[in-house]
Parts: sequence; structure tokens; C-alpha cells
Amino acid sequence: MKNYSGKEILITGGLGFIGSNLARRLVSQGANLTLVDSLIPQYGGNAFNIDDIKNKVAVNVCDVRDTFAMEHLIQGKEYLFNLAGQTSHLDSMADPHTDLDINAAAQLSILEVCRKENPDIKIVFASTRQLYGRPDYLPVDEKHPIRPVDVNGINKLAGEWYHLLYNNVYGIRACALRLTNTYGPRMRVKDARQTFLGIWIRLLIEGRPIKVFGDGLQLRDFNYVDDCVEALLLAGASDQANGKVYNLGGSEVIGLKDLSKMMVNLGHGGSFELAPFPSERKAIDIGDYFSDFSLITKELGWAPKIDLKDGLKLTLNYYSTHSSHYWDK
Ligand SMILES: NC(=O)c1ccc[n+]([C@@H]2O[C@H](COP(=O)([O-])OP(=O)(O)OC[C@H]3O[C@@H](n4cnc5c(N)ncnc54)[C@H](O)[C@@H]3O)[C@@H](O)[C@H]2O)c1
Repeated sequence: MKNYSGKEILITGGLGFIGSNLARRLVSQGANLTLVDSLIPQYGGNAFNIDDIKNKVAVNVCDVRDTFAMEHLIQGKEYLFNLAGQTSHLDSMADPHTDLDINAAAQLSILEVCRKENPDIKIVFASTRQLYGRPDYLPVDEKHPIRPVDVNGINKLAGEWYHLLYNNVYGIRACALRLTNTYGPRMRVKDARQTFLGIWIRLLIEGRPIKVFGDGLQLRDFNYVDDCVEALLLAGASDQANGKVYNLGGSEVIGLKDLSKMMVNLGHGGSFELAPFPSERKAIDIGDYFSDFSLITKELGWAPKIDLKDGLKLTLNYYSTHSSHYWDK
């Protein structure tokens, strides 16, 4: 694995869940890091996410929609891990234009800045499995039809393809990882806006029942955040990845009811109950999903290492200690 020691690196969304975990790993390798984050309160950014590394990184609180700021920030960087995003599927339906501005238009602006100011930069973009929509077959590989079921999926697809286009047409080295459900310390747990797993963690720690929507048989795969970070680093270091998209995925596939049972048995107590699907969620639900991630295994040598039970234990331990930084009591 390539070492990023001494490299000039920009992470957008650097105070968010995955960005801050990536930052911690890069700091441990001796990289020179700049983190950009808007810290919009409803989103996942949280200054506490980088509390232990705050003296070792430069932080710029600004919005990726601000092209002038991005022009300044992108100059001189060797790598861009482009993770800033509006991540709520429901919010993208309620406020589609904000999602469009952040997940598509701002991505195009960032790439334009790279083209004009820093065409030698290498970019890794955090895309999503959401853009496959309801799977036709499982596991879902990269050749599966693209059929987003919500505005967020469409805008993330545009963001992803701008990156590929700028790679293919202008030679700005860029690739995209289609992340599956990612979890771990520093994820956003304060409400149900992002993933269901975040709010489940909070409810469990608070001793309130987890609500599993529908029959609880929906299948999912999960990645512990350290595995996701490893994939981002591998993609950043590989020229074979340029112009490509890779699925990430978990090695275990689990139904949501079984997942909630597993969580309740991890030593923090709690309980779960089945509840009817809220209509606004049912309308954009994708049914069963799990990934075929054999392409990234073959080409970049990535495979998830942390099993679900161990990863959930680490996550619950983190929030049982640090809950005061993640939600108001
Ligand atoms: N966590 C997952 O399960 C998952 C799954 C698929 C894709 N992704 C993608 O990975 C990326 C990171 O997600 P995450 O889980 O860390 O979410 P997150 O919400 O914790 O992190 C995203 C960060 O981007 C910041 N941000 C949002 N809009 C911004 C703007 N306009 N300008 C600057 N910063 C802005 C937020 O403040 C936040 O800190 C996102 O692009 C997301 O779409 C995540």
C-alpha cells in the first residue's frame, strides 16, 4: 500500500463521518492535510470528529459551492478525496435543488477548477450504490442497470460521471467508489436523516426500541469505516483506477431484523420492534441490496476485513463514551 507521507491532500467533507476517519489515517501516515467542510448543522459534519487530530490538519470551514474558495484550496494539492455531499435521500426529495447544487453543480465546478488550476491532481469521488435503484439481480455488480429511485441518486450519478468525463476528456485522473452502507465511529446518529443504522445506534444507547420497518427481511451489506478508508487510499494510489467506478460491499449479507437482533446482543442492551414503513420512505425503498465487489478485489486488491459484529461493537463502544458530542440529551 502506497504511503501518503508528505503529500498535499485536500478532503472535502473532511469533518464528516468518512472524511474525518480518512483524515485520521492520513495524519498517521504524515500527509499534509487540508479539510474543507461547510458544517451545515443538518448534515454530518462535526468538529468533535477531528478533536484528536485538530492540531495536525488545516481546517477550512467553507462550502464546496463557493468556487472562489475552492480555487484557492485546490491549488498545489496532489490528491483530492472528494467526499462532501448532501446525503439524505428524504431531504433530496423535499429540497431537490439544494441536492442538485451540492451533489452535481458543485462537483462540476470543482472539476473545472482542477482543469484550469491543477490538472495534475488525482481525485477519488465518493459515489453511492443508491444509483442502482431496486436491483434486478443480486449481488449487484458495476454492469447492473442504473435506475436511481430518488433525486439524490440522480445527482450523485451526475457528480460521479462528471469525474469520469474529466478523466476521459481532459486527463484529470479521477475515479469513483460506489459505497454501500458504511458505519462506524463518527457517523451521524442524531436522527434518521442519513442511514437507519445511525438512529438505531442512538436508540440502542438511549435504551429505546429500534424500529425496523416492514417485515425486517430486507437484505443489506455493510462496510466498517476503516475498510472504506482503505479502499479510498488504494484508489487514490492506483493509476489503474483512473476513469473507473468500483463497487464497495460487505462480505456478510444480513436481513434488517437479524441485524437489529445482533445489535441488541452486543452488550449495550436495547430492544427492537417491527413498524409499518412510513409512506415517504416506502416510496424510495430499494428492497434487497448487496454488492458484488469482485472488480475492486481483482484490480486494487481490496476486500473488507472487519466483520460486522466486531465493527458494530467498536461503534457502540464509541457512542456510549462520546454520545454528548453527537446528540442533545
Ligand atoms: N455513509 C454511507 O453509508 C455512504 C454511502 C454511500 C455514499 N456515501 C458518500 O460518501 C460521502 C461522505 O459521506 P459520509 O457518510 O461521511 O456523510 P457525512 O454527512 O458525515 O459527510 C459529508 C460531509 O460533507 C459536508 N458537506 C455537505 N455539504 C457540503 C458543502 N456544500 N460544502 C462543504 N461541505 C459539505 C458535511 O458537512 C459533512 O461533514 C458522501 O458524498 C456520501 O454521498 C456515504
